[in-house]
Amino acid sequence: MARDLVLAFETSCDETSVAVIENGNRILSNIVATQIKSHQRFGGVVPEVASRHHIEQITGCIGDALREADVSYDELTSVAVTYGPGLVGALLIGVTAAKAVAWAHNLPLVPVNHLAGHIYAARLVEPIEFPAMALVVSGGHTELVYMPEENQFQIIGETRDDAAGEAYDKIGRVLGINYPAGKPVDELAHKGQDTFHFPRAMDADDNFDFSFSGLKSAFINTVHHADQINEKLSREDLAASFQQAVVDVLADKTNRALKEFPVKQLILAGGVAANQGLRERLTKEVAAFADTKLELVPLSLCGDNAAMIGAAGEMLYRHGVRGDATLNADPGLEF
Ligand code: KG4
Ligand code: ZN
Repeated sequence: MARDLVLAFETSCDETSVAVIENGNRILSNIVATQIKSHQRFGGVVPEVASRHHIEQITGCIGDALREADVSYDELTSVAVTYGPGLVGALLIGVTAAKAVAWAHNLPLVPVNHLAGHIYAARLVEPIEFPAMALVVSGGHTELVYMPEENQFQIIGETRDDAAGEAYDKIGRVLGINYPAGKPVDELAHKGQDTFHFPRAMDADDNFDFSFSGLKSAFINTVHHADQINEKLSREDLAASFQQAVVDVLADKTNRALKEFPVKQLILAGGVAANQGLRERLTKEVAAFADTKLELVPLSLCGDNAAMIGAAGEMLYRHGVRGDATLNADPGLEF
């Protein structure tokens, strides 16, 4: 069988990434040029700074990805690219680069939804079995996605306000932790106890939606109040209490979704899927469903990367999805 080789691009936020994926599930290269340092002094991603970095990095990343994979342009089967959701200027750099490569080398262009990419990162480890469910938790999204079959995505629950990762980053700032705060807060949480019992918004509601802005405000108010009266709070306990509230709601809603939509696999994906507390809790939760296997996307593939876009791109290519020279970035793209 001829090798299927996808050259994949991801530039939706603050990572410039180019990958080569063989037969949809094997990573030959996955170059990720991170810009985190340039954004840290601003406490978050500055869209204009992100676009400028992508422009500087993208050509080098293409060369590195092909070299590391030992693949030439003529061997490629298709070009896949994230076209949304994300920052419009950032997305445009990837879309423009992918269109240029596809046009210059006469290759089919495959537009990929960033969230489909996060979910399909799972197939880089094991084939996805359908029906499947995905809990996608990142800096911009918190979604429960039901997938009856390959290339079918139904959002059954989503956040009404902040994304889980966004909440981590915002409360991290209050603890004096630099962007992105998810990992350091997770580490701090493992050294503390849930002593503050922050609110679990919408946990008891009969739906699959989430809300994290009340939790964020409760956290910030607690810290500010303590500052005012000069009371010293345990950072470890604050982090543990915050994390427990986030994990409880994510796990409870996922549990309810699995009861209503029986699936063969639950995929935990997105940047926040790297959270140890969440991984441990979902492992316990899913063990109660005899017919459901938990697929934890490996830590190295939880954050934004082009390998996941190649994995989704190969699937979409088989389903006949094609873009042309008019393909544009779609910052608010939905499934
Ligand atoms: O998927 P991603 O790389 O970018 C987006 O598409 O948003 O996710 C980044 C988010 C950041 O908010 C970061 O703080 C969070 O993932 N994150 C974590 C952990 N590692 C990264 N959140 C909680 N626990 C972690 N271990
Ligand atoms: Zn992402």
